[in-house]
Amino acid sequence: MPPRDHWSSRLGFVLAAAGSAIGLGNVWKFPYITGVYGGGAFVLVYLAAVALVGIPILVAEILIGRRARKDPVGAMRAVGGRAWAGVGWLGVGASFVILSYYSVVAGWTLAYAARAASGGFTGLDAAAISTLFDAFLADPTRQLFWHACFMALVIAIVVGGVAKGLERWNKVLMPALVAILLVLFVVALRSPGAAAGFRFMFHADFHKLTPKAWLEALGHSFFTLSLGMGAMLTYGSYLSTKTDLLRSAVVIAVFDALMALVAGLVIFPICFTFGLQPAAGPGLIFKTLPVAFAQMHGGSLFALLFFLLLAFAALTSAISLLEVAVAYFVDERGWPRPRATLGMGGVIFLLGIPSALSFSRLAHVHLYPGMTLFDSLDTLATNYLLPIGGLGIALVAGWRLARPVALEEFRDPRLFPYWHLAIRYLAPVAVVLILLFKMGVVG
Ligand code: TRP
Repeated sequence: MPPRDHWSSRLGFVLAAAGSAIGLGNVWKFPYITGVYGGGAFVLVYLAAVALVGIPILVAEILIGRRARKDPVGAMRAVGGRAWAGVGWLGVGASFVILSYYSVVAGWTLAYAARAASGGFTGLDAAAISTLFDAFLADPTRQLFWHACFMALVIAIVVGGVAKGLERWNKVLMPALVAILLVLFVVALRSPGAAAGFRFMFHADFHKLTPKAWLEALGHSFFTLSLGMGAMLTYGSYLSTKTDLLRSAVVIAVFDALMALVAGLVIFPICFTFGLQPAAGPGLIFKTLPVAFAQMHGGSLFALLFFLLLAFAALTSAISLLEVAVAYFVDERGWPRPRATLGMGGVIFLLGIPSALSFSRLAHVHLYPGMTLFDSLDTLATNYLLPIGGLGIALVAGWRLARPVALEEFRDPRLFPYWHLAIRYLAPVAVVLILLFKMGVVG
């Protein structure tokens, strides 16, 4: 067996973990739910959820991974005992489910970037752009083509390994992502809708803050930090014991929250400048924003930048999802990395085909009533698999891992008691609330 791969630097790890966290959840979902749940007040609750629940679970995942130096199944078994390996299994299973449909949406962002590059939105009106998106969804060939392209990119990066694949590409893609976001931010700041956009996001209307909004904020703090399925655990398993774990986790969470806030401050001013509906939901990115790009001076360039931003964000998240499956086959089954990457990447591509066709040939297939297969998988993963996995991780870190052993992983022992309280009580209670809420028992 060759020695286990690891990050070559703390920066490499932080960029890769931030790359996993910063994804479609930041650029698309966060701005949209912020609009629905009352702007500023929701933002405050979301930030509190990240600090009180998100960061403690993030620390727990990295800590379990670093302690065990194994994939999620092996790590949960080593740290929690045999019975807890099931939580790792759930995580590996979730990585297949999530990546299979995540890759389909990521394919849309590639397709739109390609269209923008050829000036394909110029001069179109809102109706034409809407038709364009619907026709694209209904075309099986194009869906599969872009899904295949995206998975090929993910496989090509992951096959290179931790330092020479994941780390090297995150070091290129993450700075590019930040640069693109800042260029778009300047454009948005100079647009006539800037003031309205800022007001929309930061004006705190506490009346809209229903119990549902609190739980939505909690659930999103989870999804956006890639928690609950061992992605951060796997990244932690390649981390040097010299790195300050808590500090890295805080940097990752702050970076992730900042990118979500800036994404909102790009999208809302553009919406208000062109009189578009900010709470348009899933269509916001593909139907609403291209309308603005079609009218804007230099719109084709900004459209290209925006869809590249989305593609990069999706790519750095997707590689963390494939890495979970690969780590399992490498660590537990002793497969060589190329076989695990090509094999599992291929399996995930095949699993994604029904999602890709769920807007055309398979539109009549439902798991949940009234939902496409694509939406059903998203619901299954985010509502059940991730919270259950997160609960297991919190319980193992808080109750199965001996206190002195956990304490060793903290550079500053004064901060340890706060984390320990949060991971033993606060996080499990919060996750159980999310689960009950998603099952419709409360809220
Ligand atoms: N955090 C990513 C986003 O915001 C999504 C993601 C990537 C994810 N890997 C994950 C979510 C693992 C949960 C678990 O889009």
